[in-house]
Amino acid sequence: MLGNFTYSNPTKLYFGKEALDGLNKELPKYGKNVLLVYGGGSIKKNGIYDKVVAILKANGKNIFEDSGVMPNPTSDKLNEGCERARTAKADLILAVGGGSVCDYAKAVSVSAHCGEDPWEKYYIRFEDVDENTKIIPVGCVLTMVGTGSEMNGGSVITNHAQKLKIGHVFGDNVFPKFSVLNPEFTYTLPKYQMIAGIYDIMSHILEQYFSGEDDNTSDYVMEGLLRSLIHSAEIAVVNPTDYEARSNIMWIATWALNTFVAKGKTTDWEVHMLGQAVGAHTDATHGMTLSAVSMPYYRYILPYGLKKFARYAVNVWRVNPQGKTDEEVAHEGLNAMEAWMKKIGLVMNLTELGANEQMLDGIVKSTLVMEGGYKVLTQDEIYTILKQSL
Ligand code: NZQ
Ligand code: ZN
Repeated sequence: MLGNFTYSNPTKLYFGKEALDGLNKELPKYGKNVLLVYGGGSIKKNGIYDKVVAILKANGKNIFEDSGVMPNPTSDKLNEGCERARTAKADLILAVGGGSVCDYAKAVSVSAHCGEDPWEKYYIRFEDVDENTKIIPVGCVLTMVGTGSEMNGGSVITNHAQKLKIGHVFGDNVFPKFSVLNPEFTYTLPKYQMIAGIYDIMSHILEQYFSGEDDNTSDYVMEGLLRSLIHSAEIAVVNPTDYEARSNIMWIATWALNTFVAKGKTTDWEVHMLGQAVGAHTDATHGMTLSAVSMPYYRYILPYGLKKFARYAVNVWRVNPQGKTDEEVAHEGLNAMEAWMKKIGLVMNLTELGANEQMLDGIVKSTLVMEGGYKVLTQDEIYTILKQSL
């Protein structure tokens, strides 16, 4: 482990079937005005909304609502949310939903009082929150698993006019103060979303794993997380109400992207940059944009990180290396990964997500190039990978 780092994580987690009771412990810490943020209505259908509102009322809160947060929340919606937060004089933003709702809540939290266009400030100029800007605290009740937004500072916003989908990773003063993780709250997720979330988790782990050459404890932790994920995903796709599998998946998601396994790693994130560019042009489901580009990407960079790909094949996919070259082992690992992806029902090409060859130049332009992985891609290489992903 050769990197230098500091580590802290301020988010308090309540996990399990009774996790929502944690709200009774947290709410008294904040003022009366709560901005309740949620998405398109799933929480009204599955009863989570009623449960949360009852607890807010029992704690004497004034409830202001900001609903209709769409998957891949937009800069227009963010501006609307800032207005609502100011009108409500919000003391706490309570996000009830998936990564989109939680990301959006964090964006409103730092933007409502920033005094300028938040898209320009945080997503184009990548500025930090000014010292004097009031950050409204955020709490989260998670209903969709995958992003890790419940325990990190990530906040991804899409600007359709500019065809950009960009994530800003804020500091730990923007992390949710607390998150409620009840695996049963995810049971009503459509299967497509559940599977997309599972792959989002896998991609988060892989994009940290496939970087660096040193012997790093984080890599061993990630191999364990991956094996648990592969195992539990196979159970959950057959039986979505298997509590043990769904709870493991929820916990892996949190640890995959709460900054812990990134320690001492340079980290890659190019698959996310490709996926986000696709998302900016198609508005497709986040996890599926990642699965659609992953196999062409990993096969392309394999020669540049050969030793790590061979290790991945053996330690995660249990490929027997005897009598084989590193290259053969590494490819066998990726083949096993591809077979598993197909088995659980992931989208394996961009065409299915609404992309076509005419869109590729635009998607290339929207793709940020990262430098922490095994290969820094050129524009031509990005085009090639996207074309192979169609
Ligand atoms: O809007 P509602 O009605 O709630 O429906 C949602 C939405 O349609 C539905 N859903 C959520 N929980 C449900 C449910 N339906 C039934 N029962 C439930 N219990 O699922 C759909 C997708 O929800 P969404 O929040 O969009 O999914 P996800 O959690 O995958 O979040 C995606 C967003 O997070 C960003 C993505 O880019 C995307 O914008 N990310 C955030 C990251 C972070 N904060 O660090 C990192 C990730 O890599 C990712 O980029
Ligand atoms: Zn992701």
